[in-house]
Amino acid sequence: MTLELLLEAAKEAREKAYAPYSNFKVGASVETKSGKMFTGCNIENSSYSLTCCAERVAIFKALSSGERDFRTLVVVGDVKGPISPCGACRQVMSEFFDDDVKIYLANLQGDITETTISELLPRSFSLDEQ
Ligand code: THU
Repeated sequence: MTLELLLEAAKEAREKAYAPYSNFKVGASVETKSGKMFTGCNIENSSYSLTCCAERVAIFKALSSGERDFRTLVVVGDVKGPISPCGACRQVMSEFFDDDVKIYLANLQGDITETTISELLPRSFSLDEQ
């Protein structure tokens, strides 16, 4: 699966964001090692803290479809530089992503940066390591 395809899907998902409170739309797509793609958008709530980010929606859709092994995550928002995932999403990624998962952070202008979960969340919490 090409990065272009995943980015286009993330942008398309972004259009479906439910973000009436922040007006900040985010889209995400994940590619699994089995070759499937799942997309997500942020979904806000009147009770603000119930909001779920686009990254987690995409990852949870994959997980709830039985997928556990990820190859790529793409996140896109209308930001100046590449978007930066929140701490909660980084912790969720760290549960399922090894460092071979390519994470692409993008904006609508075509800026894109490649990173890894250990770069985004060094020394993440893991019960195995307590
Ligand atoms: N948001 C995401 O969906 N992903 C991110 O990486 C950053 C933040 C959402 C949550 C909320 O709906 C809105 O963006 C503003 O924080």
